[in-house]
Amino acid sequence: MNIAVIGASCTPYGEWWDKSLRDLLAQAQLTALDDAGLMPKDIQEIFVANMCAGQLSTQVNLGAMAADILGIHVPSTRIEGACASGALAVRAGIAAIESGRAEVVMVSGVEKMTDVDHTRVTESLMSATDYETEGFVGATFPALFALVTRAYMHTYNLTREQLAWVSVKNHKHGALNPSAHFRKEISVQDVLKSSMVADPLTLLDCSPMSDGAASIILSTPDFAKKINKHDVKIIASTQACDTLALSHREKITQFYATQYAGQQAYKQAGITPRDVNLVEVHDAFSMAEIIALEDLGFFDRGTAGHEIAQGKTNLNNTLTVNASGGLKAKGHPIGASGIGQIVELVQQLRTQCGARQVHNAKIGLAHSMGGLGATVAVHILTNKE
Ligand code: COA
Repeated sequence: MNIAVIGASCTPYGEWWDKSLRDLLAQAQLTALDDAGLMPKDIQEIFVANMCAGQLSTQVNLGAMAADILGIHVPSTRIEGACASGALAVRAGIAAIESGRAEVVMVSGVEKMTDVDHTRVTESLMSATDYETEGFVGATFPALFALVTRAYMHTYNLTREQLAWVSVKNHKHGALNPSAHFRKEISVQDVLKSSMVADPLTLLDCSPMSDGAASIILSTPDFAKKINKHDVKIIASTQACDTLALSHREKITQFYATQYAGQQAYKQAGITPRDVNLVEVHDAFSMAEIIALEDLGFFDRGTAGHEIAQGKTNLNNTLTVNASGGLKAKGHPIGASGIGQIVELVQQLRTQCGARQVHNAKIGLAHSMGGLGATVAVHILTNKE
């Protein structure tokens, strides 16, 4: 696979009461165009990722909104795959180019989560699970991840302190990212002492509810060369699914969809996990990062928590994980998150990341998960010729 990323932009994530869903989407779209040095008329198709706008902003038909913002009339489609919506939209954009239908495609994602009370957002997020057996009976995402965490701690002797290091590390990275929701370093004690959300997960084990948008522009390699923007390309894009309900799985301490999508992505790119320099994984909860790193083959089963606590995944250590701050500190505006991860990889591979720059970054991997491991997409990017 060889799809060029010729433009990439992210709004700062956070609580933006003065900005509407449309304002955020417009900001990401226009700055991505600017980054690519293109005009709206150059875009031949648009995909927009979003999960909750129908429920939280009483707004659907975001495809039309995205085209309207640019003042163009091209095909424009909203894509939904829960928290993996953004990554699935990227795959739709790639497919449009690979089919020969379009040469230049914009892929954007947006979510506005802070305008309504958190009970409503929690309820809306639960529509990404098997609602009949999970949401309906009162489970929440933190509660389901708490079950996974308990099972993992029991199986692999992960300590509470090791788990906390995931958030400590991601907040440390987030403090270096001007676009992050939280730019504050925290300690293990802060994580342990923050309010209990779903035992053993505390507030600082959870990603926040964020507003934000992200946008990338994809093109054929020929078009990228023509405008001299061929520095970063996508060399793998894969997706896999698992049962919607957690209770239907044989194991809940690993996620099959991540394993399968990861293996297929390495095969597509012709690389192994050892070739990857930086990773953006779906750390919606601290436990999720540990499981993702094992499922993606970076660490042996049951060891990632220990390695993270030892600093192995810190910026410019053995494998930089979530240099952006991850969903934990950069923030998690659902529809934007999967695209935001790719924006981070593009900026890293172009060496535009300042204080959080990964030295000598050559190959980056983005892992995005919708629901509790039910929908997973993996992308691999490189700046190598
Ligand atoms: N990390 C760090 N700080 C956080 C935070 C987080 N995840 N969430 C909130 N805060 C901060 C707020 O900024 C606020 O700080 P302030 O008092 O200085 O203004 C304080 O903590 C309380 O915030 P509040 O909005 O009252 O939190 P809450 O208790 O309503 O919600 C969570 C906190 C963690 C329960 C909520 O963000 C949550 O459910 N997160 C998970 C979202 C999710 O499931 N996403 C999908 C995953 S796949």
